[in-house]
Amino acid sequence: MLRVSDVAFGYVPEQTLFKDVSFTIESGEFLAVGGRNGCGKTTITRLLVGLETPRTGRIFYNDTDITGWTPAKRSQYIGYVFQQPDRQMFRPTVAQEVAFGPEQQGYSRAEVKEITAQALERVRLSDKADAYPPLLHRGEKQRVAIASALAMQSEILILDEPTSGQDGTETKELLGLLQSLRKDGLAIVLITHDMEIIASQCSRVLVMGNQTKAFDGSPEELFTKRDDLEALGLERPACVSLSMAVPSLGYCASMEEFTKRMITYKQQGGR
Ligand SMILES: Nc1ncnc2c1ncn2[C@@H]1O[C@H](COP(=O)(O)OP(=O)(O)OP(=O)(O)O)[C@@H](O)[C@H]1O
Ligand SMILES: [Mg+2]
Repeated sequence: MLRVSDVAFGYVPEQTLFKDVSFTIESGEFLAVGGRNGCGKTTITRLLVGLETPRTGRIFYNDTDITGWTPAKRSQYIGYVFQQPDRQMFRPTVAQEVAFGPEQQGYSRAEVKEITAQALERVRLSDKADAYPPLLHRGEKQRVAIASALAMQSEILILDEPTSGQDGTETKELLGLLQSLRKDGLAIVLITHDMEIIASQCSRVLVMGNQTKAFDGSPEELFTKRDDLEALGLERPACVSLSMAVPSLGYCASMEEFTKRMITYKQQGGR
């Protein structure tokens, strides 16, 4: 669906932040983007939404070259939840904020109202329709940004470290919402430093390394086959370390899975 082809980028001419970066994003995928601080994760997503322009290379959406498209034009396909979502909100109520996209797309007032109501319902924010966005909690602001993407019928949703600094309940709620959107066919791109989330939620991981892509594959392959996790600024999550320490238990993507498997394993006498 989205294809990044041989992209290179630097913020200033004498700097090459990364080069030779190619990858695809397919519908229904839950792609994690990982790597050390400053390796270029946020920058990659800024290139996807058109906030930066690649120095070389192209970006395609369903074989259409969108490299020269403005962020506004791309926003009908790609939604973005900023690390600080209040920076992307500028209207006085939640409903008006979510209505902005469909208004720009030329829908009638009645249609915009209906689209907005549906999007707010989908993210369970109908009761905050008249609230002033800056007064919402961060988790709610994120959901406003997600509702804005849904109102635009975006097919890809990018979130920049949405779970950092959030408590367990907020994180669980957000991940539940993202998984249900993924079931509806959206592609989710999640920048995260959380290894447990990568293992338990994501279908694929893209890792940025030293000035280029260092890994592109399944979380299982990343966490069981790579011996350079530390160099990449990653670590094996506890559920994977534990499952690897028990012979023939098999890969466990979460602590819940590990606990369940261990119960069966013990019942079978450790075989
Ligand atoms: N507007 C800018 N001008 C110049 N340099 C920048 C700019 N924005 C980011 N950088 C630099 O580019 C590099 C990559 O930044 P980026 O924000 O993409 O990294 P990141 O992988 O998202 O890091 P983090 O994990 O800390 O969020 C960093 O060294 C950063 O300081
Ligand atoms: Mg970042």
